[in-house]
Amino acid sequence: ARHLLGIDHLAPPDIVQLLDLAETYVALNRRTVKHSDALAGMTQINMFFENSTRTQASFELAGKRLGADVMNMAMAQSSVKKGETLIDTALTLNAMQPDLLVVRHPHSGAVNLLAEKVTCAVINAGDGRHEHPTQALLDALTIRRAKGRLHRLTIAICGDIAHSRVARSNLILLGKMENRIRLIGPATLMPAGAAQMGVEVFEDMREGLKGADVVMMLRLQRERMDGGFIPSEREYYHRWGLDAAKLSLAAGDAIVMHPGPMNRGVEIDGTLADDINRSVIQDQVEMGVAVRMAALDLLARNLRAERGAAAAGVMV
Ligand code: CP
Repeated sequence: ARHLLGIDHLAPPDIVQLLDLAETYVALNRRTVKHSDALAGMTQINMFFENSTRTQASFELAGKRLGADVMNMAMAQSSVKKGETLIDTALTLNAMQPDLLVVRHPHSGAVNLLAEKVTCAVINAGDGRHEHPTQALLDALTIRRAKGRLHRLTIAICGDIAHSRVARSNLILLGKMENRIRLIGPATLMPAGAAQMGVEVFEDMREGLKGADVVMMLRLQRERMDGGFIPSEREYYHRWGLDAAKLSLAAGDAIVMHPGPMNRGVEIDGTLADDINRSVIQDQVEMGVAVRMAALDLLARNLRAERGAAAAGVMV
């Protein structure tokens, strides 16, 4: 495919291929010299219309470690502030002949729309509450490394599911890989029709955590809440915050995950988040760079093949 817009478009063999390639980049990133020329001569532009620490930093590092020319657009200082639309901004940058555009946007579907207008490859770095495909892929790599497999696991995703693109992309990916998925959280933060999604739904966290192999925590995404009932942080932590007592109900070797940013004392106990015997949160960050390198590499290969075929067509 030309773009990486969501997990929906990936078949299980595509997911395994990307994770296997990412493993080679984990090894590269642990060396002193972390350089490959997979993207040599290519230009990558990162356009983040919404705040980010992990995703933006890791895409920048990923592109640079693969030898691309990487430009981070400072969207807050761009002509978007003078009223230029997303599409006009994208067309303007596209005219500068980039090869890869990495885009984060607060509106669901905005990245798909943009991808229809440009001639380069587009990666969705998170759009509204829709999808965050590279997050699900880095979560999958983290789970595969920690548990030794990516199938037949019981995976509990806990918290504000309704507003979470991370939950949505993970649901699709982990479902494709034949895992048992449980969604845990307040009824007000559960997506409509959750019970019909082929998952188990729990409001009682203690019930939902029983025997889980993986516990994935999510923050309250207040920036995407438009009214509705939000419990106080104190009440939320009491009922849905992960601490050692609640985790003891999961499998004895259950791992704790969080995509970040994390709100300690709201959805997770800070000591537990830092417990390297249970928490793989920093591993997720490390896998993020490797997975993004793999995604950029595979899209660059597709782009070269597409352009090679087009050039051959012209010559014939
Ligand atoms: N997990 C994640 O997307 O984090 P950032 O918002 O910091 O990129």
